[in-house]
Amino acid sequence: MNYTGKKVLVTGGLGFIGSNLACRLAEAGAKVVVLDSSVQGCGANRRNLAGYDIPVIDDDIGNAARHAERLRGLEAVFNMAGEISHINSMRDPLRDLELNTTAQLRFLLALRAMQPGVRVVYASTRQVYGVPQFLPITESHPVNPIDFNGVHKNAAASYHRLLNASGDVDATILRLTNVYGPRMALNIPEQGVLGHFFRRALNGEPIEIFGHGEQQRDPVYIDDVVDACLLCASRHRLPHANLNVGGPEALPLAEIAGALAAAGGCEIRFRDFPEGHKSIDIGSYSTDSSRIAATIGWKPVTLFPAGVAKTLEYYREHRSHYLPS
Ligand SMILES: NC(=O)c1ccc[n+]([C@@H]2O[C@H](COP(=O)([O-])OP(=O)(O)OC[C@H]3O[C@@H](n4cnc5c(N)ncnc54)[C@H](O)[C@@H]3O)[C@@H](O)[C@H]2O)c1
Repeated sequence: MNYTGKKVLVTGGLGFIGSNLACRLAEAGAKVVVLDSSVQGCGANRRNLAGYDIPVIDDDIGNAARHAERLRGLEAVFNMAGEISHINSMRDPLRDLELNTTAQLRFLLALRAMQPGVRVVYASTRQVYGVPQFLPITESHPVNPIDFNGVHKNAAASYHRLLNASGDVDATILRLTNVYGPRMALNIPEQGVLGHFFRRALNGEPIEIFGHGEQQRDPVYIDDVVDACLLCASRHRLPHANLNVGGPEALPLAEIAGALAAAGGCEIRFRDFPEGHKSIDIGSYSTDSSRIAATIGWKPVTLFPAGVAKTLEYYREHRSHYLPS
């Protein structure tokens, strides 16, 4: 899609992935609207949109119908709103249910009423697969989430699939692996392992790894994820509702931490899983992204060392907005 002059909505557009997407869309000439209620504990940061003239509707996505007038005429919806913390979901499952499931259903029903058939790209997660039965994971791997976040995100993805099948929306669900890059909320420890590693590296503090560090992850750089979303939204009625989005290579956590420790001049420490973390650990994960490559021609292009260098450069320049002293 040529996004020039196109009206698009980014939910969760004050957060990490949504803001990178919103800024890129604005650079491409789109008329971007963000819908984000700055949920406490999530990664919303007004600074993420600094320098861009992007209007923000400050409300829960579940209340989208209230803003029908402002949301009229959307060409595409990038549905990035959500709570990503697995550990928070175990501590407060009902909060996670409200944010990731109930609000999503209300939002989709509002879209159906306001703009039937609208193109929607939804940010789902690798977490829906649970503990891998084989690697790399394809879309036909069984769905068996092991934490509330995965269960609720899967329910929301099912709503997208259902309304896609009925033609009420034209939805694609991207199952994202661990994403990293500029605009991550580094100051929220519950947001995941990569944010923790970057924060420690930038602070010159020891990087902690839970367990032996041989668990694999395939981090994907944010610009590649934004490319996947933009390409996806530019096509209609794709033959597959679910598409995996993974990084260019699987690396042991110890190697991922090692790259950051070297950049930050800090050490790595191994420790036992803290209370509550072991039961929701999935072990090793890596993505088979061949379906999205065949469907829309997307492949991750940013290798981990290059992505790390760009990410650290960003935070060194904008540190006070992400890691206030
Ligand atoms: N970051 C990752 O590694 C990753 C991996 C897999 C999937 N995802 C998915 O991608 C999406 C975006 O993740 P992120 O890393 O940008 O998270 P983030 O916390 O940085 O941003 C999420 C944004 O959504 C907003 N939000 C949450 N619930 C809302 C609601 N009900 N109404 C309005 N706004 C709401 C928050 O205020 C926040 O600004 C999430 O849905 C997440 O599940 C992220």
